[in-house]
Amino acid sequence: AVARTPFIAGNWKMNLDHLQAVAFVQKLHWTLKEAKHDAGTVEVAVFPPFTDLRTVQTLIDADKIPFGLGAQDLSTHDSGAYTGEISGQFLAKLDARYVIIGHSERRQYHAESDEIVAQKVQAALRHGLIPVICVGETAEDLEEFGASAVPVGQLQTALAGVPADADIVVAYEPVWAIGSGQAATPDQAQEVCAKLREVVGSALGPDAAARTRVLYGGSVKSGNIASFMREPDVDGALVGGASLVVDEFAAIVRFQK
Ligand code: G3P
Repeated sequence: AVARTPFIAGNWKMNLDHLQAVAFVQKLHWTLKEAKHDAGTVEVAVFPPFTDLRTVQTLIDADKIPFGLGAQDLSTHDSGAYTGEISGQFLAKLDARYVIIGHSERRQYHAESDEIVAQKVQAALRHGLIPVICVGETAEDLEEFGASAVPVGQLQTALAGVPADADIVVAYEPVWAIGSGQAATPDQAQEVCAKLREVVGSALGPDAAARTRVLYGGSVKSGNIASFMREPDVDGALVGGASLVVDEFAAIVRFQK
């Protein structure tokens, strides 16, 4: 079996300006250092707003902070007359390693279709960025189709045309669990994450299925992270609210303790 390094990702959403971001990243770094967290055992990444990326990257670089850096979205285009858009090549120049694609808030408030999500995955891969592809069902979907049908379909579309050797991350975020305080149960998360891994296998092959990290997201806290991490197909978490509180996020990163 391939050992997948657990991945704890903090999606800040539209929170923390660039000054707050600096204070936050420094404090998180010191908290984990003080707790003697071994950066090799659990990978940590932060996903600040675009306007923070440059400052956070400079800080990470200067202080040799072992956090991955990611953006929360990118354009389907690489450059040109697209007012307000940010391209993958700009993110790559800022040393971003990851980019969240298809978060339910983008799908919901910015009408991102599965096809746009697929184009964004291609845009990320063109620039060597690792897409963190988010999928998940709404409460209505859950009632009508069960948990896995919608996320499976979303991921199948997102992975069309992705090469077998691509580095990707998948995040299962049931929309009803996001910011609600009502997380999925570990069993529910495991069931859908296993199905999503099968989708990766059918689209990219068995090696990709074995190496790709599948995360759970939705009301993850220090109190429930360990129960998710015990599931064989849950390789980490995409954390929203709890990623904005240093001690809480550090405790999530240290779920093994
Ligand atoms: O992308 C992470 C997110 O949508 C989950 O948010 O606040 O429920 O952890 P939260």
